[in-house]
Amino acid sequence: SSDKFVKIVEVGPRDGLQNEKTIIPLEVKVELINKLSSTGLLAIEAGSFVSPRLVPQMADSENVLKSINKNPKVSYPVLVPNRKYFDRAVEAGAKEIAIFGSASEAFSQKNINCSISESLKRFEEVARLAQEMNIPMRGYVSCVVGCPYEGKVDPKVAQYVSKVLVDMGCYEISLGDTIGVGTPKSITEMVNIVLKALPIEKLAMHCHDTYGQAIANIRASLDCGIRVFDSSISGLGGCPFAKGATGNVATEDVLYLLSREGYTTDVDIMDTCRIGEWISGKLGRQNHSRAGKALLAK
Ligand code: HMG
Ligand code: MG
Repeated sequence: SSDKFVKIVEVGPRDGLQNEKTIIPLEVKVELINKLSSTGLLAIEAGSFVSPRLVPQMADSENVLKSINKNPKVSYPVLVPNRKYFDRAVEAGAKEIAIFGSASEAFSQKNINCSISESLKRFEEVARLAQEMNIPMRGYVSCVVGCPYEGKVDPKVAQYVSKVLVDMGCYEISLGDTIGVGTPKSITEMVNIVLKALPIEKLAMHCHDTYGQAIANIRASLDCGIRVFDSSISGLGGCPFAKGATGNVATEDVLYLLSREGYTTDVDIMDTCRIGEWISGKLGRQNHSRAGKALLAK
């Protein structure tokens, strides 16, 4: 049944690569997205339009967006924090955007240099323009259970920011456990509080695997009814504004979990394993997908 269909939002080319220390050539980013585009994935985050000084790795997102072979079945959202960068994204041909807020005041300041309430004003302006232009908009809320600067976060703030972003026109909210501190208990509690303001269909989960809890948290989120998960190929990534944050949960590991637990995704797991191994080689890093390494060793 459709209750068993899970959508994967591949965030490796954005959340994954934004944190790499050495600058990755444009060709590698483009090849990564092109390879991912034929795995059955329906959404691949292609980059972000943000300060090139603060996040140099994403400075060529315009060229990435212009150079990839766009599969008509796939959406290629990009992050935009405000009107200035929204305009640039649209000029570069972005057909979908994501705005990104936070449930923690301190993280909001460190990440986008403004308070939560100021960020919502900036997003409002972006949202109005996006709606006029029929550009679908996804919303992120970071630090939904914990913050690298504030510690424990009140789920009511995650609920509030999520609701405001949906009221602005976001078709979906990706709840970010930015530093991977959540466990099934805190994730379930947080989701149940957000569910008092929003229907389950509006929610996605974005788990980082810093403490090795991402797969457990995804299993718990499935039990809550969530059917959209962000993940990154070979577990690439981290966040330059959250010290110690590791990559997102690996796409290959999520696909392995889902297939064994009776869910469908239409994504070819072996294709993703090969891509994960390929990009790890290109970046000269370990492949952080356990399932990817195990399946390739068979
Ligand atoms: P702004 O404040 O509008 O202004 O930037 P600006 O660009 O005109 O800059 C004004 C001054 O503030 C400048 O200093 C900036 O350097 C400084 P000056 O040159 O005048 O001396 N400044 C900052 N200083 C320290 N930290 C900052 C910062 N920002 C500005 N963060 C803007 C706002 C949003 C454009 C900028 O802050 C920015 O580009 N930030 C990058 C945000 C980003 O890309 N973060 C990573 C993506 S979010 C994420 O990874 C989480 C997610 O995956 C979900 C999850 O895991 O939870 C989505
Ligand atoms: Mg993230």
